[in-house]
Amino acid sequence: MKNFIANLPKAELHLHIEGTLEPELMFALAKRNHIELPYASVEEVRAAYRFSDLQSFLDIYYQGAQVLIEEQDFYDLTWAYLEKLAYQEVRHLELFFDPQTHTDRGVAFSTVIKGIHSALVEGGKRFGVSSKLIMCFLRHLDEDSALDTLEHAKPYRQWIEGVGLDSGEAGNPPEKFQRVFDLAREQGYRCVAHAGEEGPADYIWQALKLLHAERIDHGVRCDEDPALVDHLREQQIPLTVCPLSNTALKVYQTMSEHNIGRLLREGLLVTVNSDDPAYFGGQLNDNYEAIQAALDLSVGEIVQLARNGFEASFLSAEEKQSYLDALDEYVLTHPVAG
Ligand code: ADE
Ligand code: ZN
Repeated sequence: MKNFIANLPKAELHLHIEGTLEPELMFALAKRNHIELPYASVEEVRAAYRFSDLQSFLDIYYQGAQVLIEEQDFYDLTWAYLEKLAYQEVRHLELFFDPQTHTDRGVAFSTVIKGIHSALVEGGKRFGVSSKLIMCFLRHLDEDSALDTLEHAKPYRQWIEGVGLDSGEAGNPPEKFQRVFDLAREQGYRCVAHAGEEGPADYIWQALKLLHAERIDHGVRCDEDPALVDHLREQQIPLTVCPLSNTALKVYQTMSEHNIGRLLREGLLVTVNSDDPAYFGGQLNDNYEAIQAALDLSVGEIVQLARNGFEASFLSAEEKQSYLDALDEYVLTHPVAG
């Protein structure tokens, strides 16, 4: 099964590029940019990655991002991640970036996006991965800051597929950003939002009804509202679930408590993703393996999850079909028992 998962064609739809910063690269960039880190070694950084909830992670994550200063830094970060994708058979990537994490420190929006974009173009060709970029607004900041970010993005509109909403969920409901998302939609962006990770099911309703989110990032707390579960199933609204993130941030204490298998069996369009792999101790394949083992998922269920990843993407119908054909071909030629 491990081998089957490793070679299965997959899509990744919930990945924060800043969350791919491995401690080794963090140290190298700190040295290059003459930044002092509050850690003596790579081992000390890894030891600090013990989280009690979302905020305890975000504090360390925003601190780590401070080593990213120059366009080359964003390029190197993105390139390093694409190299990791190549050996995991991830064929399509939709990744988040958080401009405000950088513009608030005086790094220009253009520096951030040019570095990421050029690595996606060059690395995508080199490693055979298609990609789409989603710009997230930090929900702990105010509406004006999000509106400024939308304005900064204007010259780069053609490089950005959609907008999203991330950072500390508690106390920062989607309704706070309704006007920002209205404007983004007018400008042609696709809309997604983190909701129902730590926040209540009502935040998922708000993301759907007020922000017109086409996909919900995380969304696992939907199961607290049966009417919402029915709606997600009937409308086939995708949830980009991140299992190892959820256990690392104590949304679930153990993987065997995770609801992804149940939601899948109930017919929801759930997908498997890695969120911030450098911080949560696992790449995309590790996420598939972890849920397969803990929830005893069948081969058919693993394949369905991979199919859902392509179905839930922002690829065109033709592009989706060609990835799904490759997936079907793989399944036909790689039968596994179980
Ligand atoms: N930013 C990076 N990872 C995140 C997560 N899991 N939830 C909210 N914001 C994030
Ligand atoms: Zn996330």
